[in-house]
Amino acid sequence: MTTTLDHTITLPCGVILKNRILKSAMTEGMADRNDHATQRHATLYKRWSEGEAGLLITGNVMVDARYLERPGNVCVENSDDQSHLKQWAMAGQSNGNQLWMQISHPGRQVAKIVSKTPLAPSPVQLKLGGYFAEPRALLEDDIQDIIYRFGVTALGAKNSGFSGVQIHAAHGYLISEFLSPVVNQRNDRWGGSLENRARFLLEIVRKVRNNVGSEFPISVKLNSADFQKGGFTLEECVDVAKMLENEKIDLLEISGGTYEQANMFGTTEATNDTNQPKRESTKQREAYFLDYAKTIRAAVKTPFAVTGGFRSADTMREALLNNEVDIIGLARPFCVEPDLPKKLMQGKIQHLHPYENTLQFGNGKLGVNSPYKMISMMNVQAQVSWFSHQIYRLAEHKEPNINAGLKRSYLKQMFNEVRIATSRKRA
Ligand SMILES: Cc1cc2nc3c(=O)[nH]c(=O)nc-3n(C[C@H](O)[C@H](O)[C@H](O)COP(=O)(O)O)c2cc1C
Repeated sequence: MTTTLDHTITLPCGVILKNRILKSAMTEGMADRNDHATQRHATLYKRWSEGEAGLLITGNVMVDARYLERPGNVCVENSDDQSHLKQWAMAGQSNGNQLWMQISHPGRQVAKIVSKTPLAPSPVQLKLGGYFAEPRALLEDDIQDIIYRFGVTALGAKNSGFSGVQIHAAHGYLISEFLSPVVNQRNDRWGGSLENRARFLLEIVRKVRNNVGSEFPISVKLNSADFQKGGFTLEECVDVAKMLENEKIDLLEISGGTYEQANMFGTTEATNDTNQPKRESTKQREAYFLDYAKTIRAAVKTPFAVTGGFRSADTMREALLNNEVDIIGLARPFCVEPDLPKKLMQGKIQHLHPYENTLQFGNGKLGVNSPYKMISMMNVQAQVSWFSHQIYRLAEHKEPNINAGLKRSYLKQMFNEVRIATSRKRA
């Protein structure tokens, strides 16, 4: 039988997704000063639920309020009153879809304004100017504490009505740092061999499974590769995918890149590491990780999603038909077209506008693919701000505004983050 976007899929835990479209995680930045969810989360996710995606994944919810990824992150810990979460969970499943909470620890990838002493497997600072502080290496007790916190947060998600969780092991955040030989230079049981570097992720998966039970979906978002010299490679990703299959996770979502090499957003600066994969074709710059994902897909039977750059119905259909993926992950298009699953399944949309291709401060050296990492990063940040601006509008019952200016969105976002960072109760 050929699979199409509107087909259901049954996950190993028994849960059924009503179709093959997944809204991938996008950090909302809308928590209040106690790091609690707000009415805006509920409004936003109700809107996305009405769009008829089979699976909505929340933006990254932090496992430790002392270590946020950005101001405005939601945090579940210390929250005796879960009413704000319950409201969000209910609104986000109003159309019979699943709503999973993405849970994460930022590790070293957090701006200095948010954290002056971030944590990482080893004290390796991001090579992005002075924007990020030098991290402190985690001690054994810290590691155990963080594993425990992932479990607590997952249980908090379940108890407040979310229908699953996703562990964020991609994009250069803490779990991804453990997997990377560049950031993880430890010589204890958490570093060195791949088996050791993957231990942190596997212990987290086990702790979460232990807390939520066998019938509650657990997903992992994993990099196909870091695309960095000496970083986590495609071959290693295949091995980690097999380890995760042994843990009986319910969905593996593949992405790629880190803040230093932002491939998750389709930036194309070439890696000079011969161990990192090179793409066979650009497929009209669509579906950034599909070529790499084929290798991972061939190695495991775990339900499989790929996110990053899908922009046409044909490419999505082809990926499903060719059995390259089970589920299509989409993020930025949801910001400008909240009803896109419905429209895709009804054949009303053939192409999603690739706004990201034109949203940059300049071309060449001044653009998103600049060889200068700081310039590339600023362009990526501005783009992300522009999409966040659309998210805020949806959360306030407004329609997206595709004419919003890039610089304005960027400045507004920076101002907003400084404001929230300084008003946080625990700051
Ligand atoms: C505003 C914004 C926030 C994001 N926040 C997260 C996040 O919290 N967790 C995550 O795994 N990915 C995050 N991403 C990355 C997306 O999930 C996705 O991997 C990326 O945008 C590529 O998919 P796309 O081409 O369909 O947008 C974010 C992307 C955007 C634009």
